[in-house]
Amino acid sequence: MKTCIVSAPFDPVTNAEIRRLLNAAKVNGFRKVYLYVTEEGILPRAQRMRMVSLAIRPWRKLELYKGKDNPANMIPLNSASEEIVRQGRYDLAAPGIRKLLIEEGPYLNETLDHLCNPHRAAHSRSVAMVCRQLAEAHGMDAEQAWRAGMMHDMTKAFSDEANGKIMKVYAPEMMEYSPKVWHSYTAPVYLYHYLGLRDRKILEAIRHHTLADGTGDLDRILYIADKIEPSRGYDSTKEMELSIQDLKKGAELVLAESKQYMREKEGLNV
Ligand SMILES: [Fe+2]
Ligand SMILES: [Fe+2]
Repeated sequence: MKTCIVSAPFDPVTNAEIRRLLNAAKVNGFRKVYLYVTEEGILPRAQRMRMVSLAIRPWRKLELYKGKDNPANMIPLNSASEEIVRQGRYDLAAPGIRKLLIEEGPYLNETLDHLCNPHRAAHSRSVAMVCRQLAEAHGMDAEQAWRAGMMHDMTKAFSDEANGKIMKVYAPEMMEYSPKVWHSYTAPVYLYHYLGLRDRKILEAIRHHTLADGTGDLDRILYIADKIEPSRGYDSTKEMELSIQDLKKGAELVLAESKQYMREKEGLNV
């Protein structure tokens, strides 16, 4: 009975890797292909092993290798597809772990750093932190709020041309607004299709985060956090305190101040 052991970080295990192993098993008549998770990786080894176990569940021929590292017995697997997944293509991960990737967000930091410049990534982390604080204060799902903050600007670095193409299909009526607003509409599309985000509340909150036209609690939290997060560098104690007491009033205050700022500093008639 022929078997083989392949090694990779499986950080995370991808669909291309699974397909390659199933194909190798078929072509060579292997009874089993064992997957060895190497020591080095972004996520702890135990977490990567758990993902491999989940991913290979549908296939009897694939099994997690629990023995020791022994390069003489192992075939290194080309793991280039793993980085592509981490950078924001969760749809290319092994099917069995796609839900986990978006719901637990183990690579959200890597994805954010790939899609955003350092300044916007720092802003997003700061927004996520304020979202979490506000959600906790209101007895809401703090991790859900944190994820909304992390993902809200993920398509802001796309060119106007790229965002415009998505807008033409998904939100043509909003194209009259400044391209600065477009990412609110294109991010949910990107997140839905490439990250597999199905959380309606997060998708809605992101859609409304620029124009402040959402009326849900998470919509308001994201709008407020986006405007008052500490890395913007001004004192927002008053806004934070009011938002902790009452999200609607907090959002109204932040919106009023934002309009005032646009009138005074940017000469806009809002
Ligand atoms: Fe934004
Ligand atoms: Fe933002």
